[in-house]
Amino acid sequence: MKEKVAVFGKVNVDTLLYIDQLRMGENHLCQQTIVDIGGKGANTAIGLAKLGVDCHLMACVGNDSISQSVLKKLEKYGVDTSFIKPCAAQTGKTFVVVESNGRNTMFHILGANSCLTPEMINWTFLEKCTAIFIQFGVPVETVREIILMSKRNGKYLYIDPAGFADESILELVAYADTVAPNEVELFKMTKETDIEKAAKKLLSAGVEEVVVKLGSKGASLFSEKFSYHADAYNVDVVDTTGAGDAFNAAYIAGKIKKLSLRDNLRLAVAASAISVTRQGTSSSSPTREELIDFLQKFGEKELFEVL
Ligand code: RIB
Repeated sequence: MKEKVAVFGKVNVDTLLYIDQLRMGENHLCQQTIVDIGGKGANTAIGLAKLGVDCHLMACVGNDSISQSVLKKLEKYGVDTSFIKPCAAQTGKTFVVVESNGRNTMFHILGANSCLTPEMINWTFLEKCTAIFIQFGVPVETVREIILMSKRNGKYLYIDPAGFADESILELVAYADTVAPNEVELFKMTKETDIEKAAKKLLSAGVEEVVVKLGSKGASLFSEKFSYHADAYNVDVVDTTGAGDAFNAAYIAGKIKKLSLRDNLRLAVAASAISVTRQGTSSSSPTREELIDFLQKFGEKELFEVL
């Protein structure tokens, strides 16, 4: 039987606006706009499903036709949506401005994501899952309950602190098997300015592995006994939106396959490299076949053979 992964997090409708360069207070011409399913929860769940992982998304959406089409699309990707609850608020929305160098600036409306309470969670089902992904951006009491339940039941717990990283979440992040911030989030959580020092602070708080997403510089991993840096792949960057979520999905998929820490980090960096070459958020993450092709192209023989 396939191992099950529960994903808790935001589901959004993303509207992406592609422009040359963002200048506050000025008018801009958009070269293109795209509407895509977004939210770290949905993006990570879709990324996992594309890699063939049995993935169950636990989230809240609105109760209208837009929400219905979001659910249908998630199901089309192979994500189990049976634990997603409808609520009176509208499905979350994010407006993303993407500049020609791929950099993004986001504007969020939390909407239904704020409705996910602990009472809505199917705790019995959660006991059957091997791994749990959680982000912040859903109510913090819910995040706390899920984290504590995961630890009590010996689940693999992956936390992405994106967007909500500050010192106040350190106490919760400390329970993670893997915490995966970017550089800014790492520094905000730890009040440090050096990556290694900051990662060590998280390790001494109780985290098992700290994975720092460094964008065009790749990613670094720190654990008690091991540290490793994976360089980024040399690709043409079109849109960085969702790259961190493609990274999350590949890292969790690699954990399930029991890849070594080194291989797992390279795999996640490869998935995010594919994502940045494409427009969109959830639609830009790779399938298992695309990841294998990419690794073959870059001569990562050992990696594609284990996939
Ligand atoms: O990580 C990218 C995501 O962050 C977008 O899809 C957007 O919805 C925001 O939650």
